[in-house]
Amino acid sequence: MPVATREWVQRVLQEHRDLRQMLNELSGFLEVPRPSLGETGYHTWAAGLSELLVKLHNELFRHFRFEEEGGMMDDLGREHPRAERAIHDVLEEHPSMLRDTRGLVADTLKYAEGREPEDQALRRRVHRLLNQLAEHERAENDLILSLELDDLGSAD
Ligand SMILES: [Fe+2]
Repeated sequence: MPVATREWVQRVLQEHRDLRQMLNELSGFLEVPRPSLGETGYHTWAAGLSELLVKLHNELFRHFRFEEEGGMMDDLGREHPRAERAIHDVLEEHPSMLRDTRGLVADTLKYAEGREPEDQALRRRVHRLLNQLAEHERAENDLILSLELDDLGSAD
C-alpha cells in the first residue's frame, strides 16, 4: 500500500505538527523571565509552567501509544529491515522522555511551593527536553519520509 494512503501516516505527521506547536508554546513561555517577587505573575509562574508540562505529557503519552500500536512501527519494521536499529532507537526513547516530562512536572510543582528565585537549572532541563523531543520527532519524520521514497522508487 502506498504511504500516502496509509491511515497512520497523515495522523502521525499532523500530530507532529501539533506537538511542534506545543514545544513552541513552551519555549515562548521560557523566553520570558519569571516576574520578580511583588510583580504580577510571580506566584503563578511555576504553576503555569507545570500546566504546560502536564498538557505536553498527556499529549505525548497518547501520541507515543498511537505510534507504537497504530501501524507505524509495524510498517516501518517490516519494510525497513535495514533501518531496524534506527527504529528501535527511536522507540526506545519514548518511556524515558515521558519519565523526564513527569519528573519536570513534579520538580516544577515543588518549585512552585517555595519562594526561591529564578531556577536556571530547571529552565535548562525543560529546554533540554524540548530539544530532545524536537529531534526525536524529526528522526521519526525522516523514517516516514524514507518509506515514501521507497514507494516512489518501486513505482516504476
Ligand atoms: Fe512521534
